[in-house]
Amino acid sequence: MGVFECLPCFGRRRPTVLESTTLPSSQDLPAKSAHSTVNSFDTDPESAESRTVASPPIQEIPDAPRIARSNRALTVSAKRTYAIIEEHPFPSLESDDEIIISTRAVGLNPIDWKSVDYNFCLPAFPWVTGREMAGIVEAFGSNVKDFKVGDRVWTSTYYKDSRAGCFQQYVAVPQHTVCHIPSNLSFESASCLGVAGLTAAMTLWRWLQIPRTHAALHTTDPIPHPEYLLIWGGSSVTAQFAIQIASRSGVKVVAVASSKTKALVESLGATHVVVRDGKTGDEIVKEIREITADNITRAIDLVGTETAQYCLSALSTEKDCIFAPLAMISSKAVVPSNVVVETVEMKQFVLDPTSRVHALELGNLIEDGSVKLPSIDVLEGGLDSVQEGLDRLKKGDMQGRKLVVSF
Ligand SMILES: NC(=O)c1ccc[n+]([C@@H]2O[C@H](COP(=O)([O-])OP(=O)(O)OC[C@H]3O[C@@H](n4cnc5c(N)ncnc54)[C@H](OP(=O)(O)O)[C@@H]3O)[C@@H](O)[C@H]2O)c1
Repeated sequence: MGVFECLPCFGRRRPTVLESTTLPSSQDLPAKSAHSTVNSFDTDPESAESRTVASPPIQEIPDAPRIARSNRALTVSAKRTYAIIEEHPFPSLESDDEIIISTRAVGLNPIDWKSVDYNFCLPAFPWVTGREMAGIVEAFGSNVKDFKVGDRVWTSTYYKDSRAGCFQQYVAVPQHTVCHIPSNLSFESASCLGVAGLTAAMTLWRWLQIPRTHAALHTTDPIPHPEYLLIWGGSSVTAQFAIQIASRSGVKVVAVASSKTKALVESLGATHVVVRDGKTGDEIVKEIREITADNITRAIDLVGTETAQYCLSALSTEKDCIFAPLAMISSKAVVPSNVVVETVEMKQFVLDPTSRVHALELGNLIEDGSVKLPSIDVLEGGLDSVQEGLDRLKKGDMQGRKLVVSF
């Protein structure tokens, strides 16, 4: 796959690429995923040792609104180096189906600092990263009918298009990836829908085949054979969405969390919370099995390679099971024959326009109060605060709170 392979909706014109002959060395790849592990993030391990990309010229779309031509961006200017660019190119509309959004808030995610520290998902330098944001519609192409200038919207982006990197004042994205912000949400809250919220929704509905609604929603009868979903990392922001969505569909959730976040996880609808403090993985699995009696048929891991293997051990030994390792799974993981391991590719939200239904349904659940947002820690200061936020995220111990930056 070429470094600048165009997405279907971005296919009109490729940016000019000035490519050197220097190839990334193996130590540029994320250490854990180079050989022994598979990271389920959309992490084609491209690095940008010394490639540079020239700014694409701004394309004039007939009848497109006239818009300001200045932009400000936090770029990854070289390996492990950030730079704020005051006069970054204003993103061009490369298709009549694209929307330009003015950023009001961005959500911060582990992938944002990992991709810079380990130099992956950076097709060239300079590059703009950041995968989720909320803002205001600034301009759009002639095929866009459902949005108008000034609409409050959120989006989830794909790292291969620098114009869509959220750490800049203006982003350009395809219209099927843009959703109106539920009326009960601020920009700051909406900015965490694009990764954690959407990943939870798509993992459950698309990859784990959990129905979007359940008869249990319309009846008080108990569900005849409740299935169990195991979520390891139950207090993570992604899990907070997943627990609420799954519970609403009549699925019983067993979550692993620390004593610090047990009450939070229970309040979201987990049927059982197994406290992990001071216990080995084997002890936790034993406890889970005592509760579920070989009835877990779905699992999500949000922690890493070791806990991914423990999830596999906790799954039913007889029933058909599906497992989504959202953090990492070792290529040496022992996968029983009754278990399908799904690689969750969130890039499908951008590449496959039919995925939009999941974003719209997530919005509906938030709008009607069925799904509550995680607690948000807001950093003021826009682009100038993003690096500080990423450093904070890297230190961990957010205890279930989501970090966002307000513009
Ligand atoms: N594939 C994808 O597209 C995708 C999308 C979203 C996220 N992810 C990945 O999923 C992971 C979680 O992301 P996030 O943003 O939701 O995380 P987050 O909110 O930062 O989650 C951190 C939480 O994990 C819990 N935790 C840490 N170690 C644990 C352990 N050994 N067992 C159980 N819980 C543990 C901690 O809670 P306690 O201390 O209270 O237990 C902490 O609150 C990351 O690795 C991220 O890269 C992947």
